[in-house]
Amino acid sequence: MSFRGFLPFLCLSLIAACAARPFYPLPSKIANHNRQPLQTSRPYNIAHRGSNGEIPEATAAAYMRAIAEGADFIETDILSSKDGVLICFHDFTLDETTDVADHKEFANRKRTYDVQGVNTTGFFPIDFTLEELKKLRVNQRYKFRDQQYNGMFPIITFEEFISIALDAPRVVGIYPEIKNPVLINQHVKWPNGKRFEDKFVETLKKYEYKGSYMSKDWLEKPLFIQSFAPTSLVYISNLTDSPKIFLIDDVTIPTQDTNQSYWEITSDKYLDFIKEYVVGIGPWKDTLVPVKDNYLQPPTDLVARAHARDLQVHPYTYRDENSFLHFDFHQDPYKEYDYWLNTIGVDGLFTDFTGSLHRFQEWTSPVSQNDSKSKSNASRLLDKIGLLISTYRNG
Ligand SMILES: *[C@@H]1O[C@H](CO)[C@@H](O)[C@H](O)[C@H]1NC(C)=O
Ligand SMILES: *[C@@H]1O[C@H](CO)[C@@H](O)[C@H](O)[C@H]1NC(C)=O
Ligand SMILES: *[C@@H]1O[C@H](CO)[C@@H](O)[C@H](O)[C@H]1NC(C)=O
Ligand SMILES: *[C@@H]1O[C@H](CO)[C@@H](O)[C@H](O)[C@H]1NC(C)=O
Ligand SMILES: *[C@@H]1O[C@H](CO)[C@@H](O)[C@H](O)[C@H]1NC(C)=O
Repeated sequence: MSFRGFLPFLCLSLIAACAARPFYPLPSKIANHNRQPLQTSRPYNIAHRGSNGEIPEATAAAYMRAIAEGADFIETDILSSKDGVLICFHDFTLDETTDVADHKEFANRKRTYDVQGVNTTGFFPIDFTLEELKKLRVNQRYKFRDQQYNGMFPIITFEEFISIALDAPRVVGIYPEIKNPVLINQHVKWPNGKRFEDKFVETLKKYEYKGSYMSKDWLEKPLFIQSFAPTSLVYISNLTDSPKIFLIDDVTIPTQDTNQSYWEITSDKYLDFIKEYVVGIGPWKDTLVPVKDNYLQPPTDLVARAHARDLQVHPYTYRDENSFLHFDFHQDPYKEYDYWLNTIGVDGLFTDFTGSLHRFQEWTSPVSQNDSKSKSNASRLLDKIGLLISTYRNG
């Protein structure tokens, strides 16, 4: 049954039963030691802000959809509320992807802050308590994507995000980003002089995320920690041995904490330095294969130089829509996946459309998935999404 097809039925039949019940037990109490393990035989399908191509980004429904569609990892950005609670949200203002403008009670909350050298005006999550943030609802970022879920889902906390992964019917990893650490540490203060990075690692440890890449502990609770800020990655290397990924922005954008240029942080010398702290890099894909007039140019040598140092490469962001696809791919997202997986040879892909990457990989490099049981669990998960949507539609 298609997702769209069964929704109306579920909404009609289950409204009464589920309207008042919180959806996730916190902390997760479900101990299921027989779950299907993480696949490690092919590049990772990293669900960028959940299946945000379909459902508003970084919401519980977007993450559950991504899990149902085959994500290896669910990806998120971590920021902080004013009262120091870590939340899943991408932008440093709420303006673009929430209904904050409709909330008259918050009209006086607009601020201007210097963010990485630019005066930026808007509603900043760091000026709202968690209780206030929970009153907002998330909207789809792109107008050309499905708008039907706008206004339904709240912002979730880092802990709620972790619970979604731990409650999945198979082992699903998490891929949280230490987002805007300079801004957060300037504006949010925690007791005992703790930093944003300390709270971030504490939260992971609370749920027993630990262990180096591919260790037994890691395979039970797979995790990559990502950041654009090298000082955050170096700092937390004393706090956790979990694998870390160094994100690399466009060639024109300096690092937010150390003000280093793209050329400096992708030099051989710098890769030799950072490889002591990270297991891989997460570059924007158009810097690995430059683009001119919407056509691909010859690839740079960054993937080869990273691989020569045993660093994985997880580029971002893959999006199915033609407005994002370069002409070389002839409006066919599978061609793009094929190019990056088989010609460039990357180790993981951040995608807005976990479902299509999963189908492509299942066709071209299937993981032996021998269980009808896991299929039935996947459809049970779709039922859960239906419940969740009906709760918000009617709540
Ligand atoms: C930001 O605004 C303040 C106050 O108007 C001003 O003093 C400062 O120079 C501005 N900073 C930038 C980076 O434009
Ligand atoms: C990590 O710990 C070592 C040993 O205690 C210390 O020398 C080093 O300065 C620490 N690094 C950071 C980034 O805190
Ligand atoms: C960052 O570096 C650039 C060029 O190296 C320099 O012009 C700029 O002033 C620096 N910015 C800060 C905030 O240090
Ligand atoms: C898959 O299931 C079939 C039938 O139950 C069985 O014969 C086969 O050995 C299984 N393959 C794997 C890889 O588990
Ligand atoms: C499916 O879920 C049930 C409980 O919800 C669990 O016992 C079972 O192991 C799961 N099966 C797979 C293959 O994940």
